[in-house]
Amino acid sequence: MSLSDFRLHDTVSADQKPATPKPLRRLHVITWGCQMNVYDSGKMADVLAPLGYGPADGPADADMVILNTCHIRERATEKVFSELGRLRVIKEQRAAEGHETILAVAGCVAQAEGAEITARAPFVDIVLGPQTYHRLPEMVARAHRAAGPVIETDFPVEQKFDFLPDAPPTADQAVTAFLTVQEGCDKFCSFCVVPYTRGAEASRPAAAVLSEARRLVARGAREITLLGQNVNAYHGAGPDGRDWGLGRLIRALAELPDLLRIRYMTSHPRDMDDDLIAAHAEVPALMPFLHLPVQSGSDRVLAAMNRRHTADQYRHLVDRLRRARPDLALSSDFIAGHPGETPADFAATMQLIRDIGFAQAYSFKYSARPGTPAAGAPGMVPEAEKDRRLADLQALIRAQQDAFNDRSVGLEMPVLVTGPGRRSGQIAGRSPYLQAVHMDGSATLVGKIVPVKIRQSLTNSLSATLIFPAFEQERASA
Ligand code: SAH
Ligand code: SF4
Ligand code: F3S
Repeated sequence: MSLSDFRLHDTVSADQKPATPKPLRRLHVITWGCQMNVYDSGKMADVLAPLGYGPADGPADADMVILNTCHIRERATEKVFSELGRLRVIKEQRAAEGHETILAVAGCVAQAEGAEITARAPFVDIVLGPQTYHRLPEMVARAHRAAGPVIETDFPVEQKFDFLPDAPPTADQAVTAFLTVQEGCDKFCSFCVVPYTRGAEASRPAAAVLSEARRLVARGAREITLLGQNVNAYHGAGPDGRDWGLGRLIRALAELPDLLRIRYMTSHPRDMDDDLIAAHAEVPALMPFLHLPVQSGSDRVLAAMNRRHTADQYRHLVDRLRRARPDLALSSDFIAGHPGETPADFAATMQLIRDIGFAQAYSFKYSARPGTPAAGAPGMVPEAEKDRRLADLQALIRAQQDAFNDRSVGLEMPVLVTGPGRRSGQIAGRSPYLQAVHMDGSATLVGKIVPVKIRQSLTNSLSATLIFPAFEQERASA
């Protein structure tokens, strides 16, 4: 995975390796949206494995197709219907050849627009929200019998995590893994659908997180990114009977042998507590890269967005984090053209970006989401003006990202090798600052941390050379 696609995905297949022997039934998962959807797609595949479902090569040879959707920005629903049109053709072709295909729509559009999906696309068999996928086997059984679609978009009282099976111990795990520790959001930012699609904040017990982490590591994971819509609002029940915050959880995870690196995302500035900041100073496995969305640098807009902090509070927080971990690289999300944003407000955002200096950032044009407070707010910014602001903002971020990568040239840094590179004889990995790095080296180094020297900064990656020859390297990290 490259630096640029670490966050939002377009059509990523669930992390499934071709299984042997050939599966009884074949499953194809299409994933859009955030990392949590990537994680959820993997879990849906795990839940269906006991029914005999294994990976398909594509939708055309799949007995079941799941479209795992994202609702965050405009045209999400239209994008779903256009993909469903394509899948309908495949389903009809397969039916003509005598094969049944179960078509399921999952994720945040399913949660928000379940009724519209079944009305406009009656060929869809299952519609399920993000909180009900542990019930998939039962839904599949019902879909076989039912005349109409099976819909499950409530927020069940049982915690789905208690009902999810783990992947088989033999399943191959990539070197880097996601682990959901918290889900949902109570923040209700003016522009955002997530509190409505994912429901209220809930944290998994620390023991459950630790045992899932142990299993991931046993299967080969060396870096785990803890996920949550507001991951630093984590407050799970600890094994000691107390509530654990994210800092405490990270300290416990750092004790796991062979878990070399820990990251977390996405954080809210208001939930960055003292213990978590201290963890950045005290836990070497916690990587010096933090995605900390600020959205805007104008206090007026931040208030309108209901972010409940000011631009200076964000600056102060970043100062504290950098005192704890001086080499901390920062990333953020920005929205250009929130209702009411004036040229002066936008200039304040540009100033904040200059003041902080980001290693990378994601930026979006404001997009009105039905049902959110901002959608009906006065002061809509014209499209062309939003486009201009977004282009200016992205140019500044690009320049900062290039400068950050250029400053890496000549440095020595430990890189976690995640897999083979594009060319033969090459390997790829991640720097502590989440930069994609590639270098010549042996595939035997996959899963190890190797010291490299950065030679060149390219558009979205760095090229490097191993500091020791491969043979020495293996001994050094054995
Ligand atoms: N919980 C995360 C956000 C998840 S959504 C957080 O608080 O940072 C990811 C990003 O999408 C947000 O940070 C925001 O920048 C962007 N986004 C969300 N709703 C949007 C909208 N209506 N228009 C444009 N961008 C939006
Ligand atoms: Fe959305 Fe705000 Fe919650 Fe993030 S904190 S998920 S932007 S409501
Ligand atoms: Fe999209 Fe839902 Fe994630 S709206 S960003 S898939 S939480």
